[in-house]
Amino acid sequence: MKPTIAILGATGAVGQEFLAILEQRNTPMASLRLLASPRSAGKTVKFRGEHLPIEAVGPKSFDGVNIALFSAGASVSKEWAPIAVKSGAVVIDNSSAFRMDPAIPLVIPEINSEAIGNARIIANPNCSTIIMNMVVWPLHKARRAKRIVVSTYQAASGAGWQAMQELENQAREMLAGKPATMQVFPHPIAFNLFSHNTTIGADGYNVEETKMVLETRKIFNEPNLAITATCVRVPVLRAHSESVNITFEQPITEREAREILAKAPGVKVVDDRAANYFPMPKDASGQDDCLVGRIRQDISQPDNRGLDLFVCGDQLRKGAALNAVQIAEVLHFCYLQ
Ligand SMILES: NC(=O)c1ccc[n+]([C@@H]2O[C@H](COP(=O)([O-])OP(=O)(O)OC[C@H]3O[C@@H](n4cnc5c(N)ncnc54)[C@H](OP(=O)(O)O)[C@@H]3O)[C@@H](O)[C@H]2O)c1
Repeated sequence: MKPTIAILGATGAVGQEFLAILEQRNTPMASLRLLASPRSAGKTVKFRGEHLPIEAVGPKSFDGVNIALFSAGASVSKEWAPIAVKSGAVVIDNSSAFRMDPAIPLVIPEINSEAIGNARIIANPNCSTIIMNMVVWPLHKARRAKRIVVSTYQAASGAGWQAMQELENQAREMLAGKPATMQVFPHPIAFNLFSHNTTIGADGYNVEETKMVLETRKIFNEPNLAITATCVRVPVLRAHSESVNITFEQPITEREAREILAKAPGVKVVDDRAANYFPMPKDASGQDDCLVGRIRQDISQPDNRGLDLFVCGDQLRKGAALNAVQIAEVLHFCYLQ
């Protein structure tokens, strides 16, 4: 059976990536329904050579839909996911609405696709979490990670298409000697960087950092894994970068790590010391694989117990739309046939 697919948030940065990925992967489907807010109703979007209409989401939007891909923010997901499920759809949600609900699986298909089970709502993890986990998981499986220290360098696209426009506009304004216009971010993003623009909790961690900690523990099914994160927004248009330090229970050499990562699905090793060529967001943009390099022994740890890595991943693809489409593919092959 070919599924009918709906995208809620089809006009957004992730929604547009959904369309590109479904087209590129030639995903089999009976039909595609594109949904957004009433602001977008009546617009059209090109898909497989046809102009498809955007509809304002409503109570009947999910009738006959098998798989609903949600990328319209947490409050929209909370409102419409129960309605979509009641209509018979399985929802794959990109927002944070359901991620930490113990009844809802939080899935990266390369790591824990078995968690999907018979769930009617499946949560896609936070983008920085997915990119880190793609490289930490294969090493964790081999030598068991005890502690992870991560620092992120997050692109404007992580905050949606308006944030990407803000970076471009501010760059033009500032080069013309004008003050930067700020609408999405609280500080200028062009020629600057700042601590991630999410709320800071009583413990001093911002929401993005807390997501990386809690979501990784849930995906790995390791409730006591020690993780600490520092998340920073940088003036990069697209693709997040992360510096990751891992302490292991068992010794691991950098050569072993390179061999493990070279075989890991969805990971590409870019680690050319002679040419000083390592992962860069410009190379990760538009790619499905997460790029990993700067693979080196942590010299502060005895007995080869620590590694340092640098990873870049396109957070609109593997960090959002691609991961959700991969979940849809698991659902399609395992449960809907
Ligand atoms: N950007 C990323 O890298 C990334 C990564 C992982 C997860 N996510 C998550 O994915 C979601 C979307 O992010 P984004 O970056 O794509 O944002 P975005 O570019 O701002 O797009 C938001 C989308 O949601 C729609 N929308 C907003 N309010 C709505 C409403 N009340 N009813 C129906 N549709 C509504 C918008 O439609 P209109 O055009 O009609 O306003 C638009 O299609 C968020 O939950 C975000 O946290 C984003």
